[in-house]
Amino acid sequence: MAVIGGDGIGPEVVRAGMRVMEAAAGGDPDLDLHFTEFPWGCEYYLEHGRMMPDDGIDTLRDFDELYLGAVGWPTVPDHVSLWGLLLPIRRRFDQYVNLRPARLLRGVKSPLAEPNGLDVTVVRENTEGEYSDSGGRIYKNTPHEIAVQESIFTRRGVERIVRYGFEEAGSRRGLLVGATKSNGISITMPFFDEIFTEIAGEYPEVEASLMHADALAARLVLDPAGFDVIVGSNLFGDLLSEITAAVSGAIGIAPSANLNPEGTFPSLFEPIHGSAPDIAGQGVANPSGAIWAAALMLEHAGHPKTGQAILAALEDTIDAGTRTRDLGGDADTETMTKAVIDRLGR
Ligand code: IPM
Ligand code: MN
Repeated sequence: MAVIGGDGIGPEVVRAGMRVMEAAAGGDPDLDLHFTEFPWGCEYYLEHGRMMPDDGIDTLRDFDELYLGAVGWPTVPDHVSLWGLLLPIRRRFDQYVNLRPARLLRGVKSPLAEPNGLDVTVVRENTEGEYSDSGGRIYKNTPHEIAVQESIFTRRGVERIVRYGFEEAGSRRGLLVGATKSNGISITMPFFDEIFTEIAGEYPEVEASLMHADALAARLVLDPAGFDVIVGSNLFGDLLSEITAAVSGAIGIAPSANLNPEGTFPSLFEPIHGSAPDIAGQGVANPSGAIWAAALMLEHAGHPKTGQAILAALEDTIDAGTRTRDLGGDADTETMTKAVIDRLGR
């Protein structure tokens, strides 16, 4: 496994995740953990003028799994840091599925009065859509300045993500909502809807519907338990998964799996949260998102039982009252990590 701690609290939370994986490996003789760490990120950028070496992608290609903390620091513009590290990895490794499960863990308090057992997964398109570098600016620094950025929706890209959404729903409660906005965005979104409807025909056992992303956002706050799987474009998936993470208690818990389902390239696992410069270096970050991401990573690596054991230990730890500040407790990263490791040992 390649490990990129990245910026801010990133290195702190992946360190916690690695220790938990090492502890879990004690109970899984088939699991031969080996971490190779890369010191890439904004500090590296300030020294070398790039976020990772020129051959960084080639270096990572040989791994099956990548484990990432967070990218972004105030001294480097976000579009420079992200387009220099995380986004090229997602693209070059064709990690077209960004899977973002959100579940209300025992012992976590949702900001909602009645979350009613929320358990929803967002399937986000991860390589095209609104996140494109196609476009440009002309008449720079004049009153006539124009900025154009094209959204890219390919039939192949929409088909494969929508199909993944149906498969995911089929393996869960069989409910799929496609996030659209074809009432306002009149070219790409009707295209998305058309393909969604076509593919729905292949999955009669899945109850599928399309919902405009704005109404869907509101619905997720009002009744998140009514959802099972949501599939959406890169931007909609980003926004909606932040809502599902927030209503399930804290952004600090939710994980994110960037998958190349065919296994041609490595997949990348990370917490949903960012680098949190305001609390970086204090040792108080919530390691839960990175720990849950580690659980997903081990499942991907062919160790589902060990992954599930990690998630169970995390949930039991939180339920037993060890919680970081963002969850209303006073545990620091170290205390939380140790508590999860202790539980794994039981
Ligand atoms: C995420 C993040 C990234 C994204 C940013 C940092 C570019 O918000 O992983 O959700 O939008 O994909
Ligand atoms: Mn995001």
